Amino acid sequence: MAIDAKIHRLVENFDPWSIELANDAELFWAVINGIREHGPVLYSERHGGFWVIAGYDEVLRATKDWKTFSSAQGAAVPANPDLPKLAPIEVDPPDHSDWRRILNPLMSHAAVSRHESAMRRIASALMDEFIEVGECDLVKDFAERFVPGALFELMLGVPGDQLPTTHALVQSFISSAGRSSQQEAFTQLTMWAEQFLLWRKEQPERGDVTDALLRGDVRGVPLTMDQMVSTLVMLVLAGMETTASGISHIAQHLAFDPELCRDLASSKAQTDLVIDEIMRRESVSFGLARVTTRDVEIGGQLIPEGSRVFLLWAAANWDPNVFPTPERIDIRRPRNKHLAFGTGPHKCMGQHFAKLLLKVATTEIATRMPDLQLRPGAAAEHQPGLTRVTRSLPVLFRPTRRLGHPKVLTK
Ligand code: HEM
Repeated sequence: MAIDAKIHRLVENFDPWSIELANDAELFWAVINGIREHGPVLYSERHGGFWVIAGYDEVLRATKDWKTFSSAQGAAVPANPDLPKLAPIEVDPPDHSDWRRILNPLMSHAAVSRHESAMRRIASALMDEFIEVGECDLVKDFAERFVPGALFELMLGVPGDQLPTTHALVQSFISSAGRSSQQEAFTQLTMWAEQFLLWRKEQPERGDVTDALLRGDVRGVPLTMDQMVSTLVMLVLAGMETTASGISHIAQHLAFDPELCRDLASSKAQTDLVIDEIMRRESVSFGLARVTTRDVEIGGQLIPEGSRVFLLWAAANWDPNVFPTPERIDIRRPRNKHLAFGTGPHKCMGQHFAKLLLKVATTEIATRMPDLQLRPGAAAEHQPGLTRVTRSLPVLFRPTRRLGHPKVLTK
């Protein structure tokens, strides 16, 4: 009864930044499901007031109707007036289409596939650092170093000797989340991005994302330095926490399901399907915002023009009308059109890069740590925010030999 009252309180005035929800997965899902069942569209008075859309069909409708549900006034709840608007996530069509035209060719499945062996080299070298010890923090020692390492080196072309500095800037931004020092960390990251772009302008072309920005235009007008900087920072921030947290969620499933781990190591289970299903089940990025440009009726509610609206991907991904027994990992789902990477014009641009990172991490974990388990007595640490972030995941496994890869510079 007391639990029900607690869930009711958290559903009624939903706060995506709640520490209670970040720290308790069972409570999180009870509240997410409660919002969909009591909604599917509800109003929360938190953060100055915003609407929550939680049914699969309603979320789908809102993401596709970008004219009514605009991204141009910020994708977060609450809006942060101190941060500049980030392209392409906070730009509406038609300008948005120009941003996608600039970046999509570098983000396609085919384009990112060529990075697979380099990703394996980075992941394997990181594992070498702790594989003989039989224990590590899978987030701090692996995920939080693997993802930025790959993003900076492979996607953006940051040279090896700059990796420690850029990694430190990113870590400082991540670790200051929710604190006033995050603004300073953001400024430092922005300053690094500008210096890096100026330097790259003088270098021979590498054909990577940085080059695409340096040569890109919106409506025929070359991108300004501010636009390039904000996009570079956006790519790093959009890609890092989400993907690193994706790895930690996958690792937690593998730790609790040794059979799945064995099936992955022996290729009995198809890695791509497992990853996709865990991404649906966990909905790492659990919701993002829009602002209505007119009065609109949806899910039986009238949402007035100018309202901030939170699209709850997590609730849509657990909608039992679309995903029967949604709490189960079921790789045989006939229709897995989940929204873990969003949908509509803003569907995650980095999804193929992210999925490849997740695949490399998953196979490395399953083959090199097949008996992975959470360290008894050590709890995973989480962080409140719009991404379901795990900050620390201490694990044990049977020690094995190093493979002898050169050390990765990101520490
Ligand atoms: C598991 C990892 C990831 C998850 C769960 C995720 C999730 C999402 C979601 C839900 C959206 C939709 C935003 C919206 O509709 O407002 C999105 C957009 C986006 N993501 Fe990801 N993302 C991941 C990894 C990445 C990576 C690795 C990158 C690139 C480095 C990236 C770059 C972007 C960009 C640029 C957008 C905006 C696209 C647009 O507005 O057209 N993401 N992501």
